[in-house]
Amino acid sequence: MKTVLVTGGAGFIGSHLVDELVNRKLNVRVLDNLVGGEQNLRYFHKEVEFVNGDCCNRLDCKRAAEGIDTVFHLAAHAAEGQSVFTPVFNAKTNLVGSITMLAEAINAGVENFVFTSSIAAYGSQKKLPIREDAILNPDDPYAITKKAFEDYLHIYYHLTGIKPYIVRFFNVYGPRQRMDDPYRGVVPIFVNKCLKGERPIIFGDGLQKRAFTYISDVVEPICDVVGRKSLVDNPVNIGTEEVHTVKELGEKIIEKMHVNLELQFIEERTSDVKVTYCDMGKARKLFAYEAKVGLDQGLDKTIEWAKKEGPQEFRYFNYSEIPKLTSKTYTTKKI
Ligand code: NAD
Ligand code: UD1
Repeated sequence: MKTVLVTGGAGFIGSHLVDELVNRKLNVRVLDNLVGGEQNLRYFHKEVEFVNGDCCNRLDCKRAAEGIDTVFHLAAHAAEGQSVFTPVFNAKTNLVGSITMLAEAINAGVENFVFTSSIAAYGSQKKLPIREDAILNPDDPYAITKKAFEDYLHIYYHLTGIKPYIVRFFNVYGPRQRMDDPYRGVVPIFVNKCLKGERPIIFGDGLQKRAFTYISDVVEPICDVVGRKSLVDNPVNIGTEEVHTVKELGEKIIEKMHVNLELQFIEERTSDVKVTYCDMGKARKLFAYEAKVGLDQGLDKTIEWAKKEGPQEFRYFNYSEIPKLTSKTYTTKKI
């Protein structure tokens, strides 16, 4: 691996990945259309080449893939809850955009194609923790796009030899994650609510369980998978085994931020997966993966960063493809 392209490199995980790749002395190019904002561009090392373009556009992808040996494809519309009422926009970015990037990577002779899939692709599973060989059972449009693109990668590996590395992340959080997005990211939303002196809102009873994973526990491993024969076309879970309820998370954040606020409980989010966390045996066996940062330590670092950034106004979109599925929380701008 020498010359790499990071799509979605201006995003939360992408910008940390770019730092790691620069530290590893690789030539790094980024393709991003900045729909997620420009705020992370300030962190880029001056040697990073930035292409302002759209992964749904063939010419942009062609330009971005030229001379590249490894693509890290992160660009996505990653708001899982929002995807239910914006399925067309979601599929355009996540599926058509991904296929377009893959096609141009193949045309440019790219060797490795790393894809950030998600625990979302598993959907609700009876058997927990979830192993990679579970039958994928997506519960919402975002999850369907992740599963579908995994299938495309598998097919084009056999047709062309481009090597897919599929990593399935869980709920990643940490500095640089947008705090002004009301549609996704319970950690930054709760931290922002506390900074604003407002009560964090819980969808449902708060007993949803997630494996909240600190950013550094996904960034190094995603680089380490490239070049491992055992991981070609062989999806792997990457994240922590530490599981918490959303209620516990809210209580911890309130305590750590020393605010006198109480959690507020409202209606459940449409098609929210109740409990989801993964088995890490495969990553441990194949590349000695171990998450290092626990929730307490990760939250401390995230809160320290967030306090410096200060409270943010939530940015709502007056956009819905299926208005009757847009939950009241969003139409009434309740978050
Ligand atoms: P993010 O929203 O911070 O970053 C996504 C980036 O993609 C943004 O910079 C955005 O501008 C860019 N982008 C969106 N549409 C684009 C397009 N059409 N063309 C070019 N660029 C485009 O998201 P993130 O949290 O950093 O997630 C990165 C990847 O990891 C995504 O694929 C996401 O599905 C996956 N993932 C994230 C998590 C998580 O917890 N954050 C969990 C599982 C999987
Ligand atoms: C997250 C990821 C997604 C990934 C998926 C895997 C983020 C930003 N998104 O989605 O990319 O594919 O995990 O499962 O990490 N909640 C509240 N109050 C709020 C916000 C959220 O109660 O104000 C609840 C949600 O209903 C959900 C949980 O918190 O039960 C987590 O929500 P969120 O952080 O948005 O992530 P997921 O939907 O799990």
